[in-house]
Amino acid sequence: MSATGSGTGRTREDRTLGELVAGQLLRLCRESGLARTDAETYARLLTDSLGAVAERPLRLPPPSRTFLSDDSTPVEFSLSFTPDAPASVRVLLEPGCGTGSLRENGRAGLDAVRSMARRWGFATDRLDALEDLFLPPDPQGPLALWIALELRPGGVPKVKVYLNPAAAGPSRAAGTIREALDRLGHRRAFDALPPADAYPFFALDLGDWATPRVKIYATHRGLPLTAVGHLCRTENRPDSALLEEFLRTVGGFDGTTGSPSAAAVRFDRRPVLTCHSFTRTTGGPTGFTLHVPVRDYARDDEEALRRALTVLGRHGLDTGSLARSLTAVTPRSPRDGVGLIAYVALAHERGRPPRVTTYLSSEAYEVRSPNTSSNIPPTGGEATRSTSGARICMEPYRIKVVEPIALTTREQREAALERVHYNLFDLRAEEVTIDLLSDSGTGAISAAQLAAGMEGDESYAGSRSFYRFHETVTELTGYRHILPAHQGRAAERILFNTLLEPGGIVLANTHFDTTRANVELSGCQAHDIPCVEARDLDSERPFKGNIDLDRLRSTLEGPDGSRVRVVIMTITNNGGGGQPVSMENLKQTAEICRRHGVPMILDAARFAENAWLVTRHEEAYRGLTPRQVAEEAFRLADGCVMSAKKDGIVHIGGFIGLNDPELAEKCERLLIATEGFATYGGLAGRDLDMMATGLLEVTEPAYLAERADVASHLADRVRAAGVDILEPPGLHALYLNAGRLLPHIPPHHYPGHALACRLYLEGGIRSAELGSLYLGEEDEDGNPTKSAPYELVRLALPRRVYTRSHYDHVGRTLERIAKNAASVHGYRIFEQSPILRHFRAKLQPVTN
Ligand SMILES: Cc1ncc(COP(=O)(O)O)c(C=O)c1O
Repeated sequence: MSATGSGTGRTREDRTLGELVAGQLLRLCRESGLARTDAETYARLLTDSLGAVAERPLRLPPPSRTFLSDDSTPVEFSLSFTPDAPASVRVLLEPGCGTGSLRENGRAGLDAVRSMARRWGFATDRLDALEDLFLPPDPQGPLALWIALELRPGGVPKVKVYLNPAAAGPSRAAGTIREALDRLGHRRAFDALPPADAYPFFALDLGDWATPRVKIYATHRGLPLTAVGHLCRTENRPDSALLEEFLRTVGGFDGTTGSPSAAAVRFDRRPVLTCHSFTRTTGGPTGFTLHVPVRDYARDDEEALRRALTVLGRHGLDTGSLARSLTAVTPRSPRDGVGLIAYVALAHERGRPPRVTTYLSSEAYEVRSPNTSSNIPPTGGEATRSTSGARICMEPYRIKVVEPIALTTREQREAALERVHYNLFDLRAEEVTIDLLSDSGTGAISAAQLAAGMEGDESYAGSRSFYRFHETVTELTGYRHILPAHQGRAAERILFNTLLEPGGIVLANTHFDTTRANVELSGCQAHDIPCVEARDLDSERPFKGNIDLDRLRSTLEGPDGSRVRVVIMTITNNGGGGQPVSMENLKQTAEICRRHGVPMILDAARFAENAWLVTRHEEAYRGLTPRQVAEEAFRLADGCVMSAKKDGIVHIGGFIGLNDPELAEKCERLLIATEGFATYGGLAGRDLDMMATGLLEVTEPAYLAERADVASHLADRVRAAGVDILEPPGLHALYLNAGRLLPHIPPHHYPGHALACRLYLEGGIRSAELGSLYLGEEDEDGNPTKSAPYELVRLALPRRVYTRSHYDHVGRTLERIAKNAASVHGYRIFEQSPILRHFRAKLQPVTN
């Protein structure tokens, strides 16, 4: 929708960008009480700083696709309100918006700052010291340099410069900020900041400021209302209730005050931004600002205005001038669009009363139509919920590449089963319609991961890909030493061969099978000590993946205590039904391990899914994002082994993270000898890049919410079919209780395997038996000596691969099987290998 004329004779389209924004600024200055001469100086300064694009007629499209505003106007105004003073006017602009490349854009920005510095006699040394960091020779988007001017009486503005921390790539943003803060003398300042999804800006005050600031802006995607108190890191923190009240008002969640659903309210449209400012080189940040993109949470500007006025009134600030200022910018009615008020911000600075700022768009090119329920996504407050408590949403992606799946006949499947001696591992994948054998390495990569892979640096040593991977993993886990490995079991082999000596004991909430195999190959015993609730398949207790703390204590204090070399915490607990481990259990385990001088290592294959379930079910963590929980979990342990084929969403990849330098050095030696050099660990550069990107995507709340929802959708279908599952359903798999469905099949005829074969025969669905075929034992004559505690079938859910309609097919197939359960027959093994027999065993049906 095009902006309309202002009734001055010439149509708006005939005018230039410079004329429009200078006029808007003049009127805003007048409204704020600035002298006419000052206002004219500032209007000229604005058009001069824009350069040639100021002359551009408005009928032409925007000079570049700047993200400074939604319609790409390279100018934004703001009004800052403090008590007992008229609002002060500021203007943000992109001097390089008309240049052909981001690099030239940055150069033009620097020239503009330096010309202002010469004109008003201020130093740019702080900016000069950072030039190589933020304006590298081949900068990445989305911005290079913006300037903000605070317009004071006297014609000399205060100047702020905004730089892009992701100029060397998004994965380098945190490192760039850390280095920039260091160079400015704010050593270790970065560590004071809260976790964030991204860092869009690094800002510097230049010129005549009493206390010039360095400011770090961070985005917090999907921020829960109740988490805001955790984000502020200043010494004298504002009351969390005040911050929440501000978010509630501006986000339009007032109706949820005190209601049970208040905890569920999330800012899951455009993210909330925080800004921490540093004015001194010791003692942490002194300022904290919350920026809410009100335009994505309000129907129209009338609603946004009402909310801004409520906030102003609450803080005793001028409520008269904001509406007049809107009229100074545009003649359109606030009801006719949304985005004129882009952000509302609340700032707390040491020793000053709270300040409220409203950001106003110029709308030179476009007015955004009012939001309706059909053109914006629902917020957390409005969303309906599935039985799992996860938000019902939709796949947060669309499909770009498809792969046909096999649609086979029952006769073909019958023949295939016979050919492979009823071992589903031996089927060709093209004979399977829905493959739920594993969630490992079977996920769909995103376009961003593919693009990152294309950037892969295939140098033998020290590739850019390695450093991108290293930085991402270091930020996520906090471990001092990171070694890539081609997959989880390679990481396990290297760590255990280095750490373990024959005769030792390893304790775990439950060892995954390759973990157990690697422990045993190192000459040690692997003992599982899951919590007692884990034994009850039907219990809906939320943290059935926990370790049994009493048994952990008693083992460590008992006669075998000195043989315990390491405690493994598998998150989520795959061998224990994909159940999560609570943060409380992790904390207590870490504490017990520390007391006994035993390292605690995470098997972190599904760290993000564990973190998601923690945010849903552990009271103290409800307000945090999955990323925040994951960061904390990694930091509780001494290290980790990771199969990135799960929560790295890659087809191949893994790593070891360790704090102990000596252990890391020994592992590195073995890595180099058996996997590859320490900067690739058996992987290609593209694999490292795709893994780094996947590790960032996997903690996205929308992705995890959808994954939880799909799992609970399938769980509902399976229960409705009359098949019991291991409760509660996790995220990566459902475990069907085959023992209960097929009581007529004894353990040594493998009811789980029987169900898995029937699922394939009936519906072309491949699953994995986790029962007596996997865990049972027989003597030399084939007589059963040990059966599994439960006869289960795992339906693993590949990431981003199947939709609800595929899972509905699984539900319908199970329904048919359950109706005719008595007809399902067992199997007997006629050939097997001594270890991990389920992979290679050959079987035949047992028919009466
Ligand atoms: C919990 C857990 N740990 C370790 C592994 C081994 O990882 P990989 O298959 O990458 O060797 C797996 C694989 O399924 C797993 O689920």
